[in-house]
Amino acid sequence: MPLEIIAHRGYSSIAPENTLAAFLAAIEHQADSIEFDVQLSADGVPMVIHDSTLTRTTRIRGKVRKKTLEQIKRREAGSWFDLRFKGEPIPTLEEALSALQNIKKFIYIEVKTHSYWTDEKIDELIDMLLKYQFENRCIIASFNASFIDRIRERSDNFSFAYLVANRTAFRRQLTKAAQAGNTVMMSKYKLLIKNPSLISLSRAQGVDIVAWTVDKPKDLEKLLDLGIVRIATNCLVPEMLDRKIQ
Ligand code: G3P
Ligand code: CA
Repeated sequence: MPLEIIAHRGYSSIAPENTLAAFLAAIEHQADSIEFDVQLSADGVPMVIHDSTLTRTTRIRGKVRKKTLEQIKRREAGSWFDLRFKGEPIPTLEEALSALQNIKKFIYIEVKTHSYWTDEKIDELIDMLLKYQFENRCIIASFNASFIDRIRERSDNFSFAYLVANRTAFRRQLTKAAQAGNTVMMSKYKLLIKNPSLISLSRAQGVDIVAWTVDKPKDLEKLLDLGIVRIATNCLVPEMLDRKIQ
């Protein structure tokens, strides 16, 4: 199986994470897929942002879910990273999907703050993904397995992935993932390097593993030796990309 390289929050080591600039950089630098995070604004608009607060990436205090779209759009998420990106906006999910619609990349959407997603909001998310024709090229992911199950109950047009960061969660969620028919699970990469038996266990259950976030070529080598062929990275450097064609 060829190596799949997923640009984590876009190509986030050269452009500000979770912005269109980072997504375009990922495309330009040959990422296979793009991962980004989504959470709801106060008026229920899905926004592409990792943290639950605006502080780190806009230098303005406040929770995303307490600010309206209009308030969030007054911020910019580029200059904290580099002044060259000053003015780079926080995209809505719809803006991100629209920008990626005609670029036939696979996307991983990690839905954060699951408890704020009503059934109505989940239906809007599904409709938006269908509107931009992502049904065969999107994995919806969350650390909260029940939340993923809620989305799946409302639409079987997508693939789904549980995220796991420790061994107990890995074993528990793997069983659930196999029962639910998920073909993918996303694991912290260090967990896999420390516990290679988890990889054979998931293979036996028919669940493929995406390792995150792999930024060092030497870690990629270790994971490849263990049979991992899907990784999320912030660094689309030649040492990583070259492994795709070896
Ligand atoms: O790809 C999974 C990974 O993104 C989960 O961690 O904190 O970067 O969203 P985080
Ligand atoms: Ca994420």
